[in-house]
Amino acid sequence: MRLKDKVAIVTGGGRGIGETTCIRFAEEGAKVVVADMNEADIQIVVEKIKQMGGEAVGMKVDVTDGVLVEKMIAETVTKYGKLDILVNNAGITADGKLVKMTEEQWDKVINVNLKGVFICGQAAAKVMSEQGYGVILNASSIVGIYGNFGQTNYAATKWGVIGMAKTWAKELGPKGIRVNAVAPGFIMTPMTEKMPEKVLDMMKDKSPLKTLGYPEDIANAYVYLASDEAKFVTGTVLSVDGGVVL
Ligand SMILES: NC(=O)c1ccc[n+]([C@@H]2O[C@H](COP(=O)([O-])OP(=O)(O)OC[C@H]3O[C@@H](n4cnc5c(N)ncnc54)[C@H](O)[C@@H]3O)[C@@H](O)[C@H]2O)c1
Repeated sequence: MRLKDKVAIVTGGGRGIGETTCIRFAEEGAKVVVADMNEADIQIVVEKIKQMGGEAVGMKVDVTDGVLVEKMIAETVTKYGKLDILVNNAGITADGKLVKMTEEQWDKVINVNLKGVFICGQAAAKVMSEQGYGVILNASSIVGIYGNFGQTNYAATKWGVIGMAKTWAKELGPKGIRVNAVAPGFIMTPMTEKMPEKVLDMMKDKSPLKTLGYPEDIANAYVYLASDEAKFVTGTVLSVDGGVVL
């Protein structure tokens, strides 16, 4: 088991990539905190993990709320005695072409995808610094690196979390904390399922592998980066995109 007895918080753990990451972490022996805004989804994931014989607890949290995030971190440490891994996975979209994007769309996405990562990262870093170890992983996207039509707000946040990962890697490395980002390509989840079939086919065609990705492709990257196998890896961005941007 690659994450045996590690304690991990996965934000946005209620569905999609986050759900699969919670399940993969539990399969690898981690004690998992399924953190999400959606209570019903949280319970389903916790139940699935328990039925596998794994250890998990659900925590309802909005990553943009500093008070709730501090509470989540404190409850995790009270329950499990430490915090080894934070996956900053929660993220949203609110697309629109630049000239049509409203300030509301901009603020909404910046708030969750950027401020939420800052709030969770900062709260986790305080505990991890005291412990002298920890891993923080930020969910970026190929859209953050290469841009995407209609996603000014989303692209800005996904480039921003790379900047945070690199900055935190420098600041927190001396305290034994590794920080990396993962940049998924197009992954079949509830977030992408609403995209037109035509766009999905186009994305498939762009990959030399001629396929879209699946949540386990990203979850497996998180498992590697969270594990001690990656003990010399920090401040990097791992693209998991089927070579779509080659
Ligand atoms: N699916 C893709 O193709 C893809 C590609 C690149 C990057 N990503 C990134 O991966 C992450 C997960 O994507 P997904 O496709 O699984 O998304 P998803 O929409 O399927 O799931 C996101 C989860 O985050 C939760 N969430 C949203 N706002 C929250 C908040 N304020 N506080 C707590 N939880 C909140 C939602 O309830 C949901 O359970 C996101 O950061 C996304 O930007 C996804």
